[in-house]
Amino acid sequence: MQSNLLHTLVSGPIGVFDSGFGGLTILREMRKILPQYDYMFLGDNARAPYGSHSFDVVYDYTRQCVEYLFSKGCPLVILACNTASAKALRTIQMNDLPEWNKDKRVLGIIRPTAEHVSEYTRTGHVGLFATTGTVTSQSYPIELSKINQSIEVASVACPMWVPLVENGEYDNEGADYFVRKKVEELLSMDSRIDSVILGCTHYPLLLDKIKKYLPKSVQIISQGEIVAQSLKDYLERHTDLEAFLTRNGGCEFLTTESEEKFKHAAQVFLSNSEISAKKVVI
Ligand code: DGL
Repeated sequence: MQSNLLHTLVSGPIGVFDSGFGGLTILREMRKILPQYDYMFLGDNARAPYGSHSFDVVYDYTRQCVEYLFSKGCPLVILACNTASAKALRTIQMNDLPEWNKDKRVLGIIRPTAEHVSEYTRTGHVGLFATTGTVTSQSYPIELSKINQSIEVASVACPMWVPLVENGEYDNEGADYFVRKKVEELLSMDSRIDSVILGCTHYPLLLDKIKKYLPKSVQIISQGEIVAQSLKDYLERHTDLEAFLTRNGGCEFLTTESEEKFKHAAQVFLSNSEISAKKVVI
C-alpha cells in the first residue's frame, strides 16, 4: 500500500467508508448539508457483507480501508457503516490512529444516532434493526445507556436485508416476506416501542416496506441526515481539522470490486445520478 501520506496531515477530502453500497445513503445526506467539501468514498464491495464476520475480521478489513483513505490524503474518515463502527472504531481510535498520525480523525455513526434517538423517544422503549454483527456487539444498548440508563432496547438482527439491497431486490415482493417477519419479531418483543433505529446504512432502501408493517405511531430513525448534521456540528467545533478539508464540491468513488458493478448499483443509492468509479487494491 502507498503510505506516503499516512503519517502526514495534508489538505484533502473527507473519507467515507462502507463495506458496500450502504454508506452512499450517508454520503448523499452529507453532500446535501455540506456540499462545499470534497469527498472520497470507498466501498469494500469485494469483501462485503461484513455483517456476519467475526470481530477480528471486521477490524482488519476496516483498518486496511481507513489506512488506505488516510494514505490518499484524507484528514478525516467517517465509518459510514454500523458494523465497522461497532466492531472496529474504538480499536482504530485507540491503537492505530496514534501510530499513523494523532492529528487525523476517524469517526463512527452509532454515537450520533444514539444521541438523536435518546432525545426523541417518549416511552424510553427503542427498537433496533441491524446486522448480526452490530446486534451482538451490543453497541447501541451500550451507547444509549451512557446517555440515559433507563432506555430499553429491543434488537433484531436482519441478516437477509443487506443481500436483498445489494442484489437490487429491495423493491420486489419477495422482500416483503423478510421485512414483515422481522418487524413482527420486533413488535412481539416490546409493544411500547415508539422509535425504531435503522442501524444499518443499507436499510433506508427498505424504508417503504418497513413503514408498511410498522404502526404509524412508531418513528423510524434513518441515519443519513443525523450523521450529516452531526458532522457539521463536529467541524464547527474542530476548526483546526476543518481547515485541512479541501472545498471544491467534488466526490471520488473507489471500490474493491469491479468498476462497472459499482457504478450500476451505486446509481440506485444516489437516485440515478451518473457516477464513475475506480477499482482499487487494498
Ligand atoms: N452497511 C453496513 C452497516 O451499516 C452493513 C453491511 C454489511 O453487512 O456489510 O452495518
